[in-house]
Amino acid sequence: MNKLNHLAIIVDGNGRWAKSIGKIRSYGHLKGYENLKKIINYVNDNLDIKYISLFVFSTENFKRSKDEVDYLMNLFKKGFKEEKDVYIKKNMKVVFSYKKEGLSKDIISIIEEVESSTKDNTGLVVNFCLNYGGRSEIVDACKKIIDDKIDKNDITEDLFKDYLYNKLPDIDLMIRTSGEQRISNFMLWQISYAEFYFPKVYFPDFTPECLKEAINVYKTRDRRFGKIKK
Ligand code: FPP
Repeated sequence: MNKLNHLAIIVDGNGRWAKSIGKIRSYGHLKGYENLKKIINYVNDNLDIKYISLFVFSTENFKRSKDEVDYLMNLFKKGFKEEKDVYIKKNMKVVFSYKKEGLSKDIISIIEEVESSTKDNTGLVVNFCLNYGGRSEIVDACKKIIDDKIDKNDITEDLFKDYLYNKLPDIDLMIRTSGEQRISNFMLWQISYAEFYFPKVYFPDFTPECLKEAINVYKTRDRRFGKIKK
């Protein structure tokens, strides 16, 4: 059975979930946030998983209406302030894969506060991808390698990995809720050998039961990493 070390979720479908019950999109984001807390705590409290990455805001999401972007930024501020003590108490280490450009000072400051107050924790590593793009992460890594004047012959996949936003292992299972079957520029380097799972439910309806089902499917997948099965 496959071991699950790094789980990733593209939390998609909050807006459509809200619309389906006649509510406005921001209500969907609020319910998505409440569900995300449940999922993180469930993974931390019950599963033997070391890393979880969550795509909560892409750089492209800034193209949405000002009202929606403002709502989400306020939700991030409020959410991370509220949850900081939970992360500390539960020994979770929280990191962010993100670009500072475009984010307000107060968001950057809460991000830095959460990262620094959990940096020595040894439990579940929670990686929030916020104002994140996979191609940008790779380009930014190239720039840092050039800044460090690394010799061309020393550039290996292992070295490159260490120049990404955070030192994370490959993703084993990538889930995108809402029925969409796309990657949308999410952790392009880290998903090279990931198994994909696309449940139809919108994120606010993605329960720990749904997660267990996804993991059961993942466990039975035939992962070969390019090798021929004996
Ligand atoms: C994409 O789907 C989802 C987002 C852009 C936002 C997700 C954010 C949260 C769940 C809040 C997280 C909060 C914290 C503090 C981490 P969509 O909702 O735009 O769905 P749609 O495709 O149905 O429009």
